[in-house]
Amino acid sequence: MKIAIIGKGNVGSALCNGLSNAGHETKFGHRDPAEPVADAAKWGEVIILAVPHNNANDAIEEIRPYADGKTVIDVMNAIGQDMDLAISCTTSTAEETQKKLPKAKVVKAFNTVFAQNQSTAKVAGEQLTAFIAGNDLKAKQTVAQLTRDIGFDPVDCGPLKAARYLEAMGILIINLAYTYGMGNKMGYKLVKS
Ligand SMILES: NC(=O)c1ccc[n+]([C@@H]2O[C@H](COP(=O)([O-])OP(=O)(O)OC[C@H]3O[C@@H](n4cnc5c(N)ncnc54)[C@H](OP(=O)(O)O)[C@@H]3O)[C@@H](O)[C@H]2O)c1
Repeated sequence: MKIAIIGKGNVGSALCNGLSNAGHETKFGHRDPAEPVADAAKWGEVIILAVPHNNANDAIEEIRPYADGKTVIDVMNAIGQDMDLAISCTTSTAEETQKKLPKAKVVKAFNTVFAQNQSTAKVAGEQLTAFIAGNDLKAKQTVAQLTRDIGFDPVDCGPLKAARYLEAMGILIINLAYTYGMGNKMGYKLVKS
């Protein structure tokens, strides 16, 4: 697939590696005039929004003309002071993105995985889980396949509203890593029988 990656930082670069290794085409968009957000968003069949939450509005404005009907993957965690969740538990960054892009198919994914593990989908040889939430089943299936292509075990967590719980899981793992000293060589794996 042609995948536009908005943001060329830790997450954008890691997902670019993982998706390129799986045979997908990628194109970056960020604030560098050499790689405009609009060009990438226009080109991509899927758009990954991988910018800091505080910068999301600007990026979304540039994506907006090209997002209708497309799958938009929201990977953001709203991190506040003291690594708190900087958004009310009655919404999520993904739901706010959906409100701003009402004709896009917003899917929450990758926010519970550290960038260091996003291109391999593994920690210590163990396959990580990719938790996914969204309102459009076909878009979720597309995202599930992309995660599978990288090497994750995708789990459909339900409608986009479930992003509230996934974003809380994101804040939890960030605190485990950086507040409680466990480091980022870890990840979530859902075990089922
Ligand atoms: N790091 C992790 O382990 C991790 C894991 C899961 C989820 N997340 C989430 O993923 C998002 C990205 O995290 P990150 O660690 O990759 O951050 P990062 O390394 O700081 O990279 C952010 C990228 O966003 C670009 N950017 C900023 N404002 C922009 C705008 N208005 N339009 C276009 N591009 C813009 C920046 O590039 P320019 O300055 O060149 O524009 C930069 O390449 C965050 O929401 C974070 O919470 C992070």
